[in-house]
Amino acid sequence: MSQCNLGEPWRVQMNADVRNAAEKHPELTVFFKDAQNDNLRQTSHVEEFVRQKVNLIIISPKEAAPLTRPVAAAFRQGIPVIVLDRRVLGNDFTCFIGADNRKIGKAAGKWIATLLGGKGKIVELKGLMTSTPGQDRNAGFREGIRGSAFDIVFEADMKWLEPNARKEMESALARFSAIDLVYAHNDPGAHGAYLAAKAAGREKSIRFVGIDALPHEGQMYVRQGILAASFEYPTGGAEAIATAIAILQGKQVPREIVLPSRVFTKENMDKGGELLKE
Ligand code: FRU
Repeated sequence: MSQCNLGEPWRVQMNADVRNAAEKHPELTVFFKDAQNDNLRQTSHVEEFVRQKVNLIIISPKEAAPLTRPVAAAFRQGIPVIVLDRRVLGNDFTCFIGADNRKIGKAAGKWIATLLGGKGKIVELKGLMTSTPGQDRNAGFREGIRGSAFDIVFEADMKWLEPNARKEMESALARFSAIDLVYAHNDPGAHGAYLAAKAAGREKSIRFVGIDALPHEGQMYVRQGILAASFEYPTGGAEAIATAIAILQGKQVPREIVLPSRVFTKENMDKGGELLKE
């Protein structure tokens, strides 16, 4: 299992989900590698797995382009590869598992349009735009707010990281006296923006929306009134192990497994959020 970094709670959860699911299968041994947010290090981890002749590789890649070649090389040497959450380019892997980030972004856009009555000043704090979830959460969002009279006054790539989001939000606050809402591509980003607004005494006049909705992160922020909404991004850890077992048993698996997502708001929190529809 090659994880792109373990600096964020969501990835720690993904590894825990993989580990917990694998523990139910005594015939499996999972070796975890943490690339510490470094494409080169993640490349060498995949190459190392190939040299060790592992039976299967699960990878959650940092960026699409740089990890495509090592993934394709492993796959072409006959090692099944499951790509989790972020994509690589091309088709040289066995199965991709992840939620539909475009759909999540679009649902967030629509939800925000309803919340704000279709107009207002928005800050968009993007995830790493060289990773596919960042691209899709941006494109989906723009699609979701199409036809509304929103003004995206400020947009920046915070690379999924809370401290970056906080810094970018400080710039946004310094430049714009009116901001109605922050749409951040993940909950750490939304929380970083909230902290910047709080330090400037402006957190009460701005709404914050994030993505991930971990129980102890985004869902908790919604309960605390820090976020107006968080859209769930399931880790896929358990599904990765189920798929790995199927592959190792010689079964045919789909090329792509799309995981469902839910939206959490203060109103629907107690009934476990609400499933996103088409
Ligand atoms: C963690 C993370 C999550 C996000 C996912 C996208 O590294 O940034 O917050 O949903 O990656 O790949």
